[in-house]
Amino acid sequence: MAIVLAIESSCDETAVAIVNNRQVCSSIIASQISVHQQYGGVVPEVASRQHLETINGAIAKALEQAKLDWGQIEGIAATCAPGLVGALLVGLTAAKTLAIVHKKPFLGVHHLEGHIYATYLSEPSLEPPFLSLLVSGGHTSLIYVKDCGRYETLGETRDDAAGEAFDKVARLLKLGYPGGPVIDKLAQEGNPLAFALPEGKVSLPSGGYHPYDGSFSGLKTAVLRLVQQLEKDGGEVPITDVAASFQETVARSLTKRAIACALDYGLNTIAVGGGVAANSGLRKTLQATAAKHNLRVLFPPMKFCTDNAAMIACAAADHLSRGHTSPITLGVESRLAL
Ligand code: KG4
Ligand code: ZN
Repeated sequence: MAIVLAIESSCDETAVAIVNNRQVCSSIIASQISVHQQYGGVVPEVASRQHLETINGAIAKALEQAKLDWGQIEGIAATCAPGLVGALLVGLTAAKTLAIVHKKPFLGVHHLEGHIYATYLSEPSLEPPFLSLLVSGGHTSLIYVKDCGRYETLGETRDDAAGEAFDKVARLLKLGYPGGPVIDKLAQEGNPLAFALPEGKVSLPSGGYHPYDGSFSGLKTAVLRLVQQLEKDGGEVPITDVAASFQETVARSLTKRAIACALDYGLNTIAVGGGVAANSGLRKTLQATAAKHNLRVLFPPMKFCTDNAAMIACAAADHLSRGHTSPITLGVESRLAL
C-alpha cells in the first residue's frame, strides 16, 4: 500500500491529504479558528456544520494538488477517535462513502497515532523505538512507540492538557483564543523567574511523585490566584511576567518528565507533536536538557505538529500495507485509549 487519501475532522480543522507512504503528495487544511474565535473556544455543533460545508471542496482540492485521480488512490482512511463526535462523523462518513463508491480498502485511524506518525513525514528514516511527547489542546501524553500499532502510554496528564492550560490561562488574562501563540509571544518579553508556580506533580499513594504523569489544573488555578492577588494589591498586572513564568513552568514540567521517561526506558529519541510543540519555551528547555543527556529531540514543522490529515494518511498507509483494514460499520468514539 502506498498512495492513501485520509480525512481528519476530529476538532476544528477540516483536513484532507494524500500521501505516498511517508511522502506528502497534497495536504489541505481548512481551519475554523476564525469562526470559533467569537465564542472563545470550539463550539462542537458549529464545528460539525463547518466540516460539512468544507469537506467536499477539500477532497477535490487534495486530488487536484496531488495531480491524482481516484484510480490511483489505493486506500482511504479517516480519524475515528478520539474527538468531537459530530465532527468525527462528518469525516468518517465521507471516507466510508468514498471507499464504497471507489471500491478501496478503508481504515479508521486513532488521532494520537496520527500525531505519532507526523514525525515520519519530516524524518522518513526514523524507525521505532522512540518516545513520543504529544502536547496538544486535547492531549498530553508520553508514548513509548514500539512498532506500528504497538504503543504504551507511559505518562499523561491527570486533568487539563498542556494546550488547554495555555488556552485557559490566556482566557483569564483576557488574551483571546487560541491562547498558546499569544502567551508564547508575550512570554518572550517577560521574566520567567518573576513568579514561582506549581509544576503539577502527581502524588503517589505509596509516597513520592509519579515520574511521568502530570497535572495542569493546579497551575491554571495558581495563575488565577496570582492575578487576583496582583489586582487586589492595586498594581497593574505584569502580563508579560505572568505569561513567561507560566510558560517556563509548563516547559520545565514537560521536559523533566519526558527526559526521565526516555532515560528510564533507554530511548534516545524524543519526537514531539501537537500544537504545543510550537512553543518556544518548550523547544528551548527540552532541546537544552536533552543535549546534556545525549538525547535527540525531533520537532516536526508546525504544519505537521498541529492537526492535519497527512499524519493520518501516513499511519493508514503503514497499517494498510500490513493488511490491516476496518469494517465499513466502524463508528466514532469521543474517548478511546491508544
Ligand atoms: O494539536 P492542535 O492543533 O489541536 C489539538 O489536537 O488540540 O493543538 C492546539 C493547541 C491549542 O491549545 C493552542 O493554544 C496550542 O496548541 N498552541 C500553543 C502554541 N501554538 C499552539 N501552545 C503554546 N505555544 C504555542 N506557540
Ligand atoms: Zn490533535
